[in-house]
Amino acid sequence: MAAPESARHLLAQNEHPYPPLPSVLAALAEAGADLHRYPDFRPERFAGIVADWQGVPAGQVVVGHGSAGVALDLFHAVVEPGDNVVHSQPCFDAYPMFCEIARAEARPVPLGPDARHDLAAVAGRMDERTRIVVLCNPHNPTGTVYSWAELTEFFRRVPATALILLDEAYVDFALDWRAPDVPDRIAEWPNLVVLRTLSKSHGLAALRIGYALAAEPVARRVRDHQVPYAVNRLQEAALVAAVAAEDEMARRIAGIAAERERTGAELRRLGWAVAPSATNFLWVEAPGDHAPLRAELERLGVAVRYYPGQGVRIAIGEKDANDAVIKGFTAVRP
Ligand SMILES: Cc1ncc(COP(=O)(O)O)c(C=O)c1O
Repeated sequence: MAAPESARHLLAQNEHPYPPLPSVLAALAEAGADLHRYPDFRPERFAGIVADWQGVPAGQVVVGHGSAGVALDLFHAVVEPGDNVVHSQPCFDAYPMFCEIARAEARPVPLGPDARHDLAAVAGRMDERTRIVVLCNPHNPTGTVYSWAELTEFFRRVPATALILLDEAYVDFALDWRAPDVPDRIAEWPNLVVLRTLSKSHGLAALRIGYALAAEPVARRVRDHQVPYAVNRLQEAALVAAVAAEDEMARRIAGIAAERERTGAELRRLGWAVAPSATNFLWVEAPGDHAPLRAELERLGVAVRYYPGQGVRIAIGEKDANDAVIKGFTAVRP
């Protein structure tokens, strides 16, 4: 799954192309001086920072080891062996893995022809043993998005015994996407869990900072399943600095979105089917043999993620990386 470290352009893991902001690095250096001290036993101060930032009470916040860590805590909290979890396929690799860890029956549902969730089919796979329905919005690996109206129409079909895990790892790149503020969403949907991360838009993947926002009973239940000292001092320092630098991050995001549109348009002009993306990556349909494309991209030093028989997922990098991608796809042609 990991990109070959030797590649010059690492576009296989949907990472941010730029290193952390100087203000975040400075905060990390300062926090380093206190690493002989434990962080909070329960991360209440950390949750409070997220709560103020997101405008929710601290009781509605769960923080943890990246959004993947928070999602796994949720699985541990609500899934009993024999329960089931419904998710689209392909999806973020961790979800099928979490089903195995929690001994849940995974119910994968193929994506629809527009590279979006097939919501009717997802609804058809739910029953009284469904504990979690995972919806990544925008979706990984396709970058596609549903409107809030479409989502809520689906939410009405989810049994009250199941939680809706709305994974918004990439939502900051969805510049045209609109939804009610999270407190209003949670007030209206008591079984909704909104999952977020600083790994993607804030470019802090290695620091593992993720959080979930949900109604208090749900959030409490997840917190009760968490390991003590769940987040550390470096994460907290970086979070504070990242929240203070949101304008700078927004400028970086706008630049990445512009490169995404430029690269997508070039690939489409070459005849490739590229899904509309609301993320920092592109999904190129490529059901045939990937070997010629892979050889060409590897020659150009480009590592991307291949989904055999389906397509290729390419993170947006700096301009030279995106130009190398375009060159590779030009040489092969659909
Ligand atoms: C949809 C989705 N959710 C969650 C994650 C994990 O993010 P984190 O680094 O916060 O664990 C990823 C990472 O690729 C992802 O694609």
